[in-house]
Amino acid sequence: MPEQVPFRTIAIAAPQIGEDDIAAVVEVLRSGMLAQGPRVAELERRFADYCGTEHAVAVANGTAALHAALVAAGVVPGDDVVVPPFTFVATANAVLMAGARPVFVDVREDDFGLDAERFASAVTPRTTAVVPVHLFGQTVDTAAICAVARRHGLVVVEDAAQAVGATDGGVRAGAFGAVASFSLYATKNLMCGEGGLVTTDDAAIAQRLRTFRQHGMVGPYDYAELGYNYRMTDLQAAVAVTQLSKLDASTARRVANARVLDDGLAGLPGVRTPSVMPGRTHVYHQYTLAIEAGCPVTRDQLLAGLRERGVGANIYYPKPLNAYPHLAGMTPFPTPVADRLAAQVLSLPVHQGLSDPDLAHLVASVREIVGG
Ligand SMILES: Cc1ncc(COP(=O)(O)O)c(C=O)c1O
Repeated sequence: MPEQVPFRTIAIAAPQIGEDDIAAVVEVLRSGMLAQGPRVAELERRFADYCGTEHAVAVANGTAALHAALVAAGVVPGDDVVVPPFTFVATANAVLMAGARPVFVDVREDDFGLDAERFASAVTPRTTAVVPVHLFGQTVDTAAICAVARRHGLVVVEDAAQAVGATDGGVRAGAFGAVASFSLYATKNLMCGEGGLVTTDDAAIAQRLRTFRQHGMVGPYDYAELGYNYRMTDLQAAVAVTQLSKLDASTARRVANARVLDDGLAGLPGVRTPSVMPGRTHVYHQYTLAIEAGCPVTRDQLLAGLRERGVGANIYYPKPLNAYPHLAGMTPFPTPVADRLAAQVLSLPVHQGLSDPDLAHLVASVREIVGG
């Protein structure tokens, strides 16, 4: 029997490259200035303006951004750093890269972000920092997390990789902590293939970031401390600058797509659509469902059914980080919510490249499989 031909694969992510992006790269190539140069400086100025921070420092990728942010914020070997277990592995790996120990503290059901109360009860004299992750495009409860950090004298390092442009109380992700990191990986809302940005209001932290990305260099062949080659190229920056000029339009499109999915999937038994918390905006890096008790099919049956219908749904994330060998046994705290979410979540395409028929097919497919 011939294999069933799917409707058409609707990818979970689809970078939108325009002629303007291509022209910007060609211009850099023609200039002969390929490494970190004027386009990186331009990106840094524009991105700091966008986030509402004094400084932005560009680096090679989001993991480098987080590593640099932790070190520049003063995290040193031997420190404990609170991180959520329900996130991409880079969040915890960067803590290890800084020589510190990630201490996993559970997340909330509703926004998938770090639970402020559990965070407060997990602080010990070894704790020096916290890395709240603004997962899937919505910030954590920044007021609650920052209040706990202030009370205990901890530095807040935001992992804003997935939340460029998301706001809480009108303030953008990247402007809450002492320092914040972003990823410009190809699938991110703001992307340039690979890239990272770090934001801060603190001139000393910004200076340390600039030296850290360049082998700790403070002058020609003068190295003040260990650093790395974490530089971004002008080729990457040229794409990021062009993409940044289109970011508000693409975010609006993601939000509109999410509303179509919210409406189309409303009322399905055991299918929880994403919550937007009061006072916050969501930029929908991912549109993530939780498939709960009461749903007639399992999460994995829904995933398989969607893929048969050409829908590139995916699981972010299938395991809590403390289940991986190199990160296991690092925390004395149970993480029941993260454990449960890892078994319940399923992300649907929501990106700005979706057409109206794509969205209709997504909704119809979920409804058909769930039977609602
Ligand atoms: C939450 C989170 N943190 C950190 C990263 C690391 O970024 P990159 O892949 O650019 O190194 C990512 C992206 O992949 C991420 O989603």
